[in-house]
Amino acid sequence: MNNEENAAEKLNWYFTSCPTGMEEMLLEEVKKYDGESFQQFTGGIRFKAKQWNVIELIVNSRLASRVYLEVHQYKFYKDNDHFALAKDKWWHHLFSVNQTFKISTLFDKDANRFFKNSMVMSLRLKDAIADSFRQNVGSRPDISKDSPDISLLQRIEAIDGQKGWFNRIYLDLCGEPLSHRGYRPHGHEAPLRENLASAIVQSTDWNKDEDIFIDPMCGSGTIIIEALYLAANLPGAWLKLHALAKKSQVFAFQDHLWYKREDHQERLEEYAMDLLKKGEDSVNGLPGGQFFASDLSSKALSIFEKSLKLANFPSDLVEMEVADALVVKPYEEAPGIVVTNPPYGERLGQEEDLPKFYHELGENFKANYKGFRCYILTSDQEYRKAISLQTSMRKPFFNGGIECRLLKYDIR
Ligand SMILES: C[S@@+](CC[C@H](N)C(=O)[O-])C[C@H]1O[C@@H](n2cnc3c(N)ncnc32)[C@H](O)[C@@H]1O
Repeated sequence: MNNEENAAEKLNWYFTSCPTGMEEMLLEEVKKYDGESFQQFTGGIRFKAKQWNVIELIVNSRLASRVYLEVHQYKFYKDNDHFALAKDKWWHHLFSVNQTFKISTLFDKDANRFFKNSMVMSLRLKDAIADSFRQNVGSRPDISKDSPDISLLQRIEAIDGQKGWFNRIYLDLCGEPLSHRGYRPHGHEAPLRENLASAIVQSTDWNKDEDIFIDPMCGSGTIIIEALYLAANLPGAWLKLHALAKKSQVFAFQDHLWYKREDHQERLEEYAMDLLKKGEDSVNGLPGGQFFASDLSSKALSIFEKSLKLANFPSDLVEMEVADALVVKPYEEAPGIVVTNPPYGERLGQEEDLPKFYHELGENFKANYKGFRCYILTSDQEYRKAISLQTSMRKPFFNGGIECRLLKYDIR
């Protein structure tokens, strides 16, 4: 076996991040791509895998925010040690002097209290890397804050009862977060991230062969679009496959030396073409009459229509109308599920009486949704209490910084 084969076959450590609350689901997803030695942390999973399996994970994941390669790690007790140990690596084997780079720093709670300023720690690592380059290749790479070729993340945590520190340095393999699927019309930010919407749908007991699927406060339609991705078994990078098949750069790793050294490029093109063909076949096979969306805002519905088009789904796959969720009835009889995230104060700054709104939503479910399972993502306990129905499931998720619950109501 030559060196090249060795590198591709070697197991490396990786870290994949996700919104808090989704870690167990992400773990199950990572397992599908032959990862091993899993460690679950708040906000992500550390695991070992081969290079190609990680590329598959990056292309397919519907839950990950980012995937990183672990490139360096050490313990340090004094600031000077941090600099010397950071420098003690052949950074020029990881990226070239012509590539720009950027460093971010994250602390655990104790490190945050001690170091306070993450910029100072980022600067230390930057200087160490620059010194290492100067010593080994005679010059140093430039920094780029806005569009670096190489993004490094160091995560410093306390050890030995806070006497010392452990630093793990990661290389971002993604560039843009994986949750940016590419179906949002330009300039539109929906309140729900795509990977969180996918996790919500995956947390329901939706039976694709029997249930109709309703979102009566659909906004820009993230929940239904992610349900369509699941129904058609589309990879998270569905809308990036054309570019990958044409050798264009989509992910940061395509510009990394480890990737270029191996024979992955051709394999990735063929893989993308294969996924594209399978995806197109299954989108064509999706049945109509299963997805129903409504919202009070016609503007939101027109954004949803644009997103459907951008995601390459036929527009008649989802029936849409302007309607008030407090009175709207189901479009078809049960069995079916309702999955929705109603407005909540923190996000929209609403003055309205939201507890009353949630109460009336519950009353509409009671009166008109017999036989349906209704799922609501919401934040405030006061709103949850206002719904006078028994929950049969409560699952915590974080939407941005806001702690939410996905609640399930079985309407009988
Ligand atoms: C938190 S947003 C939903 C975001 C959505 N999941 C997305 O991906 O864009 C709440 C939505 O509820 C809608 N809404 C508020 N009151 C409503 C009502 N009474 N009936 C229907 N929709 C309503 C708002 O227009 C908004 O689009």
